[in-house]
Amino acid sequence: MQNLQNEVKKVSFNNKTLILGFSYEFMSFSFFLKKKQQPLFDGLIDFHNHLLPGIDDGSISVNQSLEMLDLYSDLGIKKVISSPHIYKYLYPNTKETIQASFAKLDKASKTHEVELLGFAAEYLVDEFFMRAVAAQEKQLCCFGKHILIEIPFFDQLKRLNEVLFSLQNQGYFPILAHPERYAALETTEAVENLKHKGAKMQLNALSLVGYYGAEVQKKASLWLKKGLFDLIGTDAHNPYQLNKLRDLHLSKKELLAWKKICAEQTALIAP
Ligand SMILES: [Fe+2]
Repeated sequence: MQNLQNEVKKVSFNNKTLILGFSYEFMSFSFFLKKKQQPLFDGLIDFHNHLLPGIDDGSISVNQSLEMLDLYSDLGIKKVISSPHIYKYLYPNTKETIQASFAKLDKASKTHEVELLGFAAEYLVDEFFMRAVAAQEKQLCCFGKHILIEIPFFDQLKRLNEVLFSLQNQGYFPILAHPERYAALETTEAVENLKHKGAKMQLNALSLVGYYGAEVQKKASLWLKKGLFDLIGTDAHNPYQLNKLRDLHLSKKELLAWKKICAEQTALIAP
């Protein structure tokens, strides 16, 4: 079908054939919409999301969190670990604020299919986090000693490099959330360099849908095919984003890499 479409484009020398080309593209687009949804998330344990109500820029209420749990279930995700932001200036969460929100949702979600396995956090690597790590404060982990971190989207990598070293010295396994979204990470070499320094890379599934733009989508697809990602997360903040994940359709190569990551992720969290 793709070949035919290209042929039509190649012979488009006047208005008449140009119109034919557009008609064909429209037919092709209709065909795409009828593609069967791939069961990409079946059995995946999502440990990067903002599902807990009222404590960051994620879910705004218990009801919205419950709606998100139902959407998780529709996607095939039956177990989640929540990871609200800890971002001193905007979301100054602590273990206590997260625990309280978790308890509220846990109580309300008993009749829902999706199981809340626990809570952790997504730490912004800023001066406060650096200080907490230097003081060897106990950090919230998603599972085992795996800790989820992010950097400001337009930040350089100096702080990140430092903290990777300190965290590992204290026995943590740092996971960098959505590397494909950072301006400072443009090349595969830059990602490989961070991996050599001990960071695991977590793909944000929404990047592959084009949710953050074409550039991010391109990096996500390329790095997925090159085997640079270790883990996958939804980073879901609301029902809209979970619904967007239904649009995700992977090529053969992407699918192969995706399945490998999912299997390794499940084995790592729930061996
Ligand atoms: Fe996040």
